Amino acid sequence: MNDIRWGILGCGRIAHKFANDLQLAGGGKLTALASRSLENAKEFSEKFPAQYIHGNYEELVNNPDVDIIYIATPHGLHHEHALLCLNHKKAVLCEKAFAMNSRQVSEMIDAARKNNVFLMEAMWTKFVPHYLTTMSMINEGKLGKIRSMQVNFGFATDPSFPQRLFKPALGGGTLMDIGIYNVFLTLSVLGMPDEIDAWMKPSKEGIDEQMAVVFRYNDGSFSQMLSSFLTNLGTEADINGEKGRIKLTSRFYEPISTSIEFFPGRPDSKENIPFEKESGWGYQYQIRHAHDCLHKGLNESPVMSLKDSLQLMNTLDAIRAKAGLVYDADKG
Ligand SMILES: NC(=O)c1ccc[n+]([C@@H]2O[C@H](COP(=O)([O-])OP(=O)(O)OC[C@H]3O[C@@H](n4cnc5c(N)ncnc54)[C@H](OP(=O)(O)O)[C@@H]3O)[C@@H](O)[C@H]2O)c1
Repeated sequence: MNDIRWGILGCGRIAHKFANDLQLAGGGKLTALASRSLENAKEFSEKFPAQYIHGNYEELVNNPDVDIIYIATPHGLHHEHALLCLNHKKAVLCEKAFAMNSRQVSEMIDAARKNNVFLMEAMWTKFVPHYLTTMSMINEGKLGKIRSMQVNFGFATDPSFPQRLFKPALGGGTLMDIGIYNVFLTLSVLGMPDEIDAWMKPSKEGIDEQMAVVFRYNDGSFSQMLSSFLTNLGTEADINGEKGRIKLTSRFYEPISTSIEFFPGRPDSKENIPFEKESGWGYQYQIRHAHDCLHKGLNESPVMSLKDSLQLMNTLDAIRAKAGLVYDADKG
């Protein structure tokens, strides 16, 4: 089987990590890099060489030697960049948050269907071993009925942090950047809530510097989620069942740092649950899955489906409506 030929659109921080893990994934190669600045793309290629170095995104989407484009720009630009790729019949793996709202996600899905090309949200946490192990334990009933969850993700920022985090037009704010992991995990375990409530502390720019979210379910289950740019949180997840509890330790979403602690009984009943560890950041699992989808000629992932992405974004929309977080993209 031929290697899948990747192009990267936007040579920022996450693109570096992705390029590193592409080397570990096997079955794919970095063929093209595109940056708004040729200089930046060249600098990137010193660490991660590619056959083509483009000084704009248009050249990349017109490059016939590229099979799939990884979109690594800020989420406020995902809709625009995904449409650019899809309308040039390029397959797309697009970073989370997939877009700014469900209208944009629906338009991206329509464009993928119209152009008959693959589209997937890079919700990498759905492919990592500790997530799969945790979900297996839940599905096997080891925790019994899940009654509640507490999930938090936060770090204290200062002006040295990426400016996209604070700019409304780029999708700044905690919910879309890090709170999305809390929401994703809760939806995976408890499903769609029957009621949502949410509160935020707005920054002077209008993004949420801190967000508290509660999901309520008609069977009496709850999830409490907190995301913050103001304080260093534990970045842990507790999944509390009638027969046992799982704690995903800090940082709960990433396979390189977390561990799975299972408490079948009281707080001193801890068992450490092993899971597969590989080197790399953990992005190689979703990359392998994308390779598999492309080799099978699929236009949609059976694991992270477009319906899953739309459901996630619908939920983020509902949270934002409750908290009063509005982006310009909502007005368009
Ligand atoms: N999966 C994960 O674990 C993970 C982790 C971090 C971030 N992310 C997601 O990845 C995306 C990018 O995050 P990042 O931390 O890599 O951001 P970043 O370091 O700021 O990089 C974003 C890149 O987008 C390009 N870009 C195009 N237009 C831009 C504009 N108007 N302003 C700023 N940059 C622009 C730039 O690349 P060029 O100048 O080269 O074109 C920039 O370097 C976000 O959606 C974020 O949520 C995911």
